[in-house]
Amino acid sequence: MNAQDIEALNETLQQLSPREILATLLPSLGRTALSFSGAEDVVLIDHFVKAKKLAEQSGTDSDISLYPFTLDTGRLPAATYRYLERVRNHYSLELNVLMPSAEAVNSLVREKGLFSFYKDGHKECCEIRKVAPLRSHLANFDAWITGQRRDQSPTRMEVPFIEIDTTFSTPERQLIKVNPLAKTSSAEVWQLIRMLDIPYNELHDQGFLSLGCEPCTRPVGPGQHEREGRWWWEESTKKECGLHIATDQHSS
Ligand code: ADX
Ligand code: SF4
Repeated sequence: MNAQDIEALNETLQQLSPREILATLLPSLGRTALSFSGAEDVVLIDHFVKAKKLAEQSGTDSDISLYPFTLDTGRLPAATYRYLERVRNHYSLELNVLMPSAEAVNSLVREKGLFSFYKDGHKECCEIRKVAPLRSHLANFDAWITGQRRDQSPTRMEVPFIEIDTTFSTPERQLIKVNPLAKTSSAEVWQLIRMLDIPYNELHDQGFLSLGCEPCTRPVGPGQHEREGRWWWEESTKKECGLHIATDQHSS
């Protein structure tokens, strides 16, 4: 796909719902991974499983395959592990749970301890626990799908529906990234979760809006933006861990 194709597709996808975006793109994306953070991006799993069922019933399921995965950093809240298991069972999902390199984690922890991010910033730990495992995993795919939304963060206000992933593409291999929820608001996502009776992470009932690793996530109070609960000791323009924006591209 070239930049012109992407631009034209973004124009078309603008009119579609997340479910329609998935249905439209999946047959032509090639081998596609679906990332799941263990939070409200579960709506994408729900859409995918239902689209797959419909396709099976109509005999066209060969067009729809997706490989769901989650990055287990080793620091997720216990409730998130319970939730991942619930989702796996609820949807009979083969969920790939990716771990970081034991050697890299050990080396970081031996040198700097278990909470180095409070002092040095989160970049180094996120690189080892999230970004490196993601990079090796995505090398097996043509495309990946994320739950990024424009309303999630000041750094995501222009997230497109489809893009060439400039962080994880290599000179030999172009990787396409799809963000079906780009223009969906948090309120709309929650409306879907309630309406479709989708299982959700119990932490959302305890004041957590955006969910990540346990030491780097806290609940937010009334009127606070969801991102204020993530890496709260850092500036809002730096609140990306490298999954979606290379950390050296942050504005400072
Ligand atoms: S993060 O970069 O700040 O951690 P965020 O929590 O907003 O990301 O989630 C945005 C999207 O990134 C999720 O919908 C999902 O697609 C992907 N993502 C984030 N964390 C993970 C994870 N642990 N495993 C898999 N995908 C993730
Ligand atoms: Fe490490 Fe925190 Fe990043 Fe998790 S969010 S990988 S604990 S710095």
